Amino acid sequence: MHKFILLLLSVFPLVVFGGPLMNPQTEGKIARLIQQMTLEEKIGQMTQRNGADGHEDQIRDGLIGSILNEIDTDKLNNIQRIAMKESRMGIPLIIGRDVIHGFRTVFPIPLGLAASWNPELIKQGTRIAAIEAASVGVRWTFAPMMDICRDPRWGRIAETLGEDQYLASVLAVAMVEGFQSDDLSNKDALAACAKHFAGYGAAEGGRDYNTTSIPEQLMRDVYLKPFKACTDAGVATFMVAFNEINGVPASGNSFLLKQILRDEWNFDGFVVSDWASITQMINHGYCRDDKHAAERSLNAGLEMEMATSTFIDHIKNLLDEQKITMQTIDDAVRNILRIKFRLGLFENPYTDPADFPELVNAEHLAAAKESAIQSVVMLKNDNQVLPLSKEIKSIAVIGPMADDQFEQLGTWTYDKNIEDTQTPLMALKKFDKSSAKINYVQTLEYSRAKDKKDFQKAVEAAEKSDAVLMFMGEESILSGEAHCRANIDLPGIQEDLIHEISKTGKPIVLVIMAGRPITIGNIIDKVDAILFSLHPGTMGGPALVDLIFGEVSPSGKLPVTYPKVVGQIPLYYNYKNTGRPFDPKTYVPMDSIPVRAWQTSLGNETHYIDAGHKPLYPFGYGLSYTTFEYSDLKLSSNKIKLVEKLQVSAKITNTGEVAATEIVQLYIRDLVGDITRPVRELKGFERLQLNPGESKTVTFELCKDDLDFHNQKMQLVTEPGKFHVWIGPSSTEGLQGEFEIVQ
Ligand code: NOJ
Repeated sequence: MHKFILLLLSVFPLVVFGGPLMNPQTEGKIARLIQQMTLEEKIGQMTQRNGADGHEDQIRDGLIGSILNEIDTDKLNNIQRIAMKESRMGIPLIIGRDVIHGFRTVFPIPLGLAASWNPELIKQGTRIAAIEAASVGVRWTFAPMMDICRDPRWGRIAETLGEDQYLASVLAVAMVEGFQSDDLSNKDALAACAKHFAGYGAAEGGRDYNTTSIPEQLMRDVYLKPFKACTDAGVATFMVAFNEINGVPASGNSFLLKQILRDEWNFDGFVVSDWASITQMINHGYCRDDKHAAERSLNAGLEMEMATSTFIDHIKNLLDEQKITMQTIDDAVRNILRIKFRLGLFENPYTDPADFPELVNAEHLAAAKESAIQSVVMLKNDNQVLPLSKEIKSIAVIGPMADDQFEQLGTWTYDKNIEDTQTPLMALKKFDKSSAKINYVQTLEYSRAKDKKDFQKAVEAAEKSDAVLMFMGEESILSGEAHCRANIDLPGIQEDLIHEISKTGKPIVLVIMAGRPITIGNIIDKVDAILFSLHPGTMGGPALVDLIFGEVSPSGKLPVTYPKVVGQIPLYYNYKNTGRPFDPKTYVPMDSIPVRAWQTSLGNETHYIDAGHKPLYPFGYGLSYTTFEYSDLKLSSNKIKLVEKLQVSAKITNTGEVAATEIVQLYIRDLVGDITRPVRELKGFERLQLNPGESKTVTFELCKDDLDFHNQKMQLVTEPGKFHVWIGPSSTEGLQGEFEIVQ
C-alpha cells in the first residue's frame, strides 16, 4: 500500500472504515491522543468510578475516565478541573447518572409514559430531564431502557416502554432525541444510553437478572428492534444487560457487541458494563476469575467498566500474555473519546448552574402534568361514574396513595425533592372548580400495611359522601430493579378495604398507582371505575384531579397486556397461533366440567380451564369520556408489488359529547410465512384529537420494510402472500381489511 495512504489510515483509521457521523478532524485529534497515552491512561478512560470523593488522585493520574452518581456541581467542577489541568493528557471526565424519568421534576415512570403513545410529549419530557441534570454537571444518562417485557412480575417492567417492539422503538428514539437534543455538544445535552443490551426483559419467570433463552430470530425481530432504531437515531452509548442469552452473558457476548452492534449496525459510540456485570460472569459460570472475566468482556467488545476494577487489575497482564490486543484497547478508548468530543467536553467540561433555568420551574411542572394526564389509562367506567360532576357535594378520599408525596414518584428517582410532589389529596383541596367537601381517611399507612384499625372510619367517610375515590397500588420500592413479585395483586389488605367500602353501595373510583399491571380479579366487580395511573410523578395529583372531574378526557392506552391472573403470564398480544387455537365454541370452563368426566379431545385448545384465553385488558386498550366510531376502511390497493407502498385509511368520528383524543392503531397479520407469524403486529399509530361530532381520516402507509422478518435462514425478508390489516382502538378490535403482496 502507498505510504501516504498508510499514514492516513493510522491517523484517521475510522474515517475510512467507520460510520457517517465521524468528523475527520476529531478522529485526528483522537488518534493523536491515543498515540501519546500510556497503557495506564488508556485503561483509565475505560474505568468508571462511583462518586467524586476520594478519586481526585486517580483522576490526576489519568486512571479514571468516568464518574457516576455525583451531582454536587462544585465537586464535579473540581474533578473536571483536575482531569483537564492536572492530569497529563487533559482529558475530561464523562459524568453519568440514572436520569430515568426526570431529574428533579419527576415525570411518570417509563411504562406510564409509554401509555401516552406520544413521542413528542416524551421527547419534551426527556429534554427537560436533560436540562435539569445538565444544570448540575451530569452529561450522560443511563437511559432510555428499551427492554421488551412480557412479564409484569419483573420489577423492571416499570422502567420499560412496554411489550411491543414497534411502540418501544418509536418512544425510545423520542427519548434519545430529547436527551441528546439536536447537537450533543449543546451544554444541556446528555449522551443517552441504550440499555440493557440485550434481552434483559425476557428474564425467566420475571425474576430479575435471570437466564434468558431467546432464539436469534426472536432476538432480531423483537428484542433488538428498539436498539437498532436508537442506533440509527444516533444514540451515543450502550449498556450491556446483566443476563445471559442462550448461555452467553451479555457482558461477554461478541455476537451482540461485535457482530450486531459494530459490524451490522456501524455503531460508533461506546459500550459500558452494567454495575459489576463483568465480574458477575464468574457467578454465571462463564469465567473462572476476574482476569478471565476481563479477557472475555474485552474480547467481546465491552469498553468501559462500571464499579469493578478488572480492567485496571488485569489488562496489562492480558496484553503481555497476548490474550487481548492493543488494538482492542485502542478501539475502546477511541470510541469513548469520540463521545467526549461530541459532548464538547474538551472545550467546556465545567458547569455553571446560572446558565440554566431553575429546576422544577412552571414550564417543567406543566410538562410533567401533561405527561401524567396522558399516561393514565381508564380501564373501566361503569354507568359513566367518571367524570365526577363538579356539583358533587362530598367525596370520600381513601387509601395509602392518596397523599403520599414519596410513593407516587416511582422507581429511579434519586434526584427528586419530595416536597415538590403534588398528591391527589393536595390537588383535590386546591381544585377550585368544585366545592365538594373532602372526607379523607388514609386508612392504610402504606400499600403493604395490615392494620385494619381505620377501616371503620373509612367506611363512615364513604357513607357520608356522594362518591369514593380510592387511591391504591404499590409503593415505589415494590417495583424496579430486583423488586419482582410472584403475586401481583394489590399488596397488603387493600383488597379487604375495597370490599368493605363497596358494602356502602357508594360509587367507587379506584386509582391504581403502581409500577406494573396489578391483578384486580378479586375486586374488579366491587368498583365502578378504574384509572390505571402507574406511578405518575411530581404532578400526578393535579393530573388525576383534572381527569376525575373531566377537565380532560383520559386518552392513555395500555402499552402492555393486562393479565387476569398471574398464572397467565407471559401474556402478550403479538403471540403466535397454535395448531389448536382457542375456540370459544368448544371451550369448557373448569366449573362446567362434569364430575368424573371422561377424557375427550373435544375442547382441546389453547387456554386455561380456569382462566380462559384472554387477558383482562388487551394491549392498546383504554377508555375515554367519549365514544369513537371507526368506519370507511380503505386500502389504496388490494395487491401491491414489493417495491410499492400501501395506504390504509379509516375515518374516526367522535360520537360522544366531549372533546377527546383517540390513539388510532394500525395492525397487520402476515397469514403464512417461512416461519410462523404473530396473530397481530403493531405497525403504526396516531393520536387524534376530535371534538364532539367531528370526523377525521387517518392514513397510514406501509412499505416492504414494515412487513419484514427474519426467516429460517436468518435473512431479512418480506414475503409475497396475503396479509390482514386492521385500523382500530386496540390490539383486539378494529376494522379489518386484506391485501396481497405479489412479486
Ligand atoms: C444497575 C442497573 O441495571 C442499570 O440500569 C443502572 O443504570 C446502573 N445500575 C447504574 O446505576
